[in-house]
Amino acid sequence: MARKKSITDVDLSGKHPLVRVDFNVPIEGGEITDETRIKAALPTINALLDAGCAVTLCSHLGRPKGKVVPEESLAPVAERLGRILNAEVTMAPDCVGEEVARMRADLQPGQVLMLENTRFHAGEEKNDRDFAEQLAGDADLFIDDAFGSMHRAHASTVGVTEFIGECVSGLLVREELDQLTRCREASGDGFIVILGGAKVEDKIDAIRQLLPRVEKLLVGGAMAWSFLKVQGMEIGESLSKPESVEAAGAILSELSEYRDRLMLPLDVHMKQVEPDTGEMKFADADAIEPGWDALDIGPKTREEYRRIITKEAEVVFWNGPMGLFEVSPFDEGTRAVAQALADTEAFTVVGGGDSAAAITQMGFEDKLSHVSTGGGASIEYVQGDELPGVEALDEA
Ligand code: 3PG
Repeated sequence: MARKKSITDVDLSGKHPLVRVDFNVPIEGGEITDETRIKAALPTINALLDAGCAVTLCSHLGRPKGKVVPEESLAPVAERLGRILNAEVTMAPDCVGEEVARMRADLQPGQVLMLENTRFHAGEEKNDRDFAEQLAGDADLFIDDAFGSMHRAHASTVGVTEFIGECVSGLLVREELDQLTRCREASGDGFIVILGGAKVEDKIDAIRQLLPRVEKLLVGGAMAWSFLKVQGMEIGESLSKPESVEAAGAILSELSEYRDRLMLPLDVHMKQVEPDTGEMKFADADAIEPGWDALDIGPKTREEYRRIITKEAEVVFWNGPMGLFEVSPFDEGTRAVAQALADTEAFTVVGGGDSAAAITQMGFEDKLSHVSTGGGASIEYVQGDELPGVEALDEA
């Protein structure tokens, strides 16, 4: 991939940029529960304000599917950003339309305007040309700093670039690409990938593309149970949808020459749900009993994964928790893997989403080489795909 321009390659002074940020943050009862993505955009926003730009920010939040959903307004985010910046951040009533165009035209150097959720319009996800043109407005520079959204070919990530003269990345995107490129280019001995989460079908492309490149791919989380099931093992009441089992079967037959690289849990931590006694115990992976629900990897697996991560790894990429980490004690498998990543001397990257949330919750984020703000974007980039949002930017 050719190197793309970033804000350090262009003259920023006095510009009216449109900045795409990824402020898709978790909000519960109107309260932002994790502000990591807001803080991650600060270096770019501050650089623009220092250069005397009049800054218009846009983002999506949630999946409102082209309708106005008041709970998915970016207003609380604008308020939080204002508090962090210690400056006023004006909230626009929409992201396009006459009133918004006026607000953008009136914006002065050093001021910040937050546009409303781009996904309140169906044109966003359809990458509609007219909508993109309106969103571009009179901006004289487009800056994409929304790493978490760069795998989406939407109006605010790709469409707008047709209507704005200069299109560059922000500092967050540049940093993410620099760090993740080490994983994207890694292959062979010492390259360890850890994948977890519930759905094999969501990770099927990643496994297909990564298994031939890795030394080992460690599987955890509910998707592991589908791999056990398709091999004829009893998994009791453990979470496993038919589409996940089918995807696991496809991987095992297509990639049979790499089967020894795919590490499945040796044991599990499970709970009795039928009858619902609430009893918990460990069992080998081939000894899960009917009526029991596997909710985490067990101690033998934790030890084996730790050995691989601390003794064999040179580059580690991790995406997806090892178990039901939101509920103690089923967070222990995820914690053990996080601890191993903190202890290894390897280059360690965690790709967004639940695994990044777990790392932050457990206080390990400073012990890793890089914690990405992107979930889907980081995995697609590491597996070798081109990200449409990156492709759309100007070459350096
Ligand atoms: C994310 O949270 O991964 C990004 O903000 C993208 O969100 P999306 O999966 O709804 O496009």
